[in-house]
Amino acid sequence: METILVVDDEKNYLVVLEALLSEEGYEVLTTPNPLEALEIINNVDLDLVITDMKMPKMDGIIFLERVKEKKPELPVIMMTAYGTIEKAVEAMKKGAFDYITKPFENEELKLNIRKAINMYHLLKENRRLTYALHSKYQFGNIIGKSKKMQFIFEMIKKVAATKTTVLITGESGTGKELVAKAIHYNSPRRDRPFVSVNCGALADTLLESELFGHEKGSFTGAISMRKGRFELADGGTLFLDEVNNMSPALQVKLLRVLQEREFERVGGTKTIKVDVRIIAASNRDLKESIKMGTFREDLYYRLNVVHIHLPPLRERKDDIPLLVAHFLKKYTSEIGKGEIKVSEEAFRRIYEYPWPGNIRELENAIERAVVLCEHGIIKPYHLPEALQKKNLYFDLKDLSSDIKLPQVLENIEAELIRQALVKTNYVQAKAAKLLGITKSLLQYKIKKYNLSP
Ligand SMILES: Nc1ncnc2c1ncn2[C@@H]1O[C@H](COP(=O)(O)OP(=O)(O)OP(=O)(O)O)[C@@H](O)[C@H]1O
Ligand SMILES: [Mg+2]
Repeated sequence: METILVVDDEKNYLVVLEALLSEEGYEVLTTPNPLEALEIINNVDLDLVITDMKMPKMDGIIFLERVKEKKPELPVIMMTAYGTIEKAVEAMKKGAFDYITKPFENEELKLNIRKAINMYHLLKENRRLTYALHSKYQFGNIIGKSKKMQFIFEMIKKVAATKTTVLITGESGTGKELVAKAIHYNSPRRDRPFVSVNCGALADTLLESELFGHEKGSFTGAISMRKGRFELADGGTLFLDEVNNMSPALQVKLLRVLQEREFERVGGTKTIKVDVRIIAASNRDLKESIKMGTFREDLYYRLNVVHIHLPPLRERKDDIPLLVAHFLKKYTSEIGKGEIKVSEEAFRRIYEYPWPGNIRELENAIERAVVLCEHGIIKPYHLPEALQKKNLYFDLKDLSSDIKLPQVLENIEAELIRQALVKTNYVQAKAAKLLGITKSLLQYKIKKYNLSP
């Protein structure tokens, strides 16, 4: 059960919060005395502290500082009376997770609590995993504990044993090539070559001779016979990357090879037979390409015998702590740094960012942060620009997955404030006027969203 400590000198609030939060299924400890609260924090394994700002025995800010000295990662939500926004700014600077103004909306408080505890648990998970990656969560070089990835591991195992053609789809950076290699290296063909061709990188004629090879003198520059990738992959696996980019003419040729398992080199007449397992990858939805007339339907059915779809990272956020742990370990040892941790705030940014470039983008961000960070701790400013400002990268897909409406609204708010600041050259009075809010509220939001120039 998750345990929350509530500290407030007003006993009424303790009673109300205890009732509200117990009903939500939390174990609730309460005390009106901050000194006693610090004792509890020392001795009890808590998940969250909620504290009042103004208390006679100890100021809320001082209390927050003492909590952070003892347990730097334990989230603290501050309750402030309306109109003490400066104090809230200070509390956020000193590491409070969030603040809520009294009198509060029950729903808002419950949401904030859930968010704080989730983030704390994910951070703890990340710490725990950094130096002890569980083998269950790893298949070859592929990392993943989410249900979606565990399912993909099972698919890879099943399909590896066979010779079946596999189609792998997914956005850029989701690990398509990694999965293709995992299939090959877990198959009976593992001692034979894994040959990869990027169908999007070469002009049509070049790609044809790349795939099927050519005879001497078959075209200008063909000074000797050359084997194509199909031949080179004999006995092994041929990985056709970005297959959606193949021209219609080549699609026909590929279809024939898939049907008959034989072909001729460019400019040649001899029929060559090969034993090749085909794995194709596409970052486009091939069904759409068929509708648009750029991809042959018959070829699609030949390739799509088994389909593995890699979901974007934003749809499997529970893999993030593990991936961060994995890349931290990889790059600290590669770069030769000692143990490195991700700070609470940096972790929160990483978790909330939608990662349009998926795992590749995450990996690059961690590598960069490992290089830049000092004193063994990654802070938000070690992360790429895109994570500095919360941005407006949203569509309905995100809304239906992991992102909560308050989060979306916060991102929109932050982005509008950022734009106002840029537009007014960071003259806060002007920006506040543009946004129709007071300057002190603007200052608070600038701190909250880290929008200083
Ligand atoms: N589940 C994962 N665990 C660990 N590393 C991963 C995972 N998925 C991807 N990566 C890493 O992310 C990077 C991108 O992966 P990969 O090249 O396989 O993506 P892709 O889907 O082929 O992308 P593209 O469509 O841009 O070619 C690689 O460095 C890979 O090692
Ligand atoms: Mg790729």
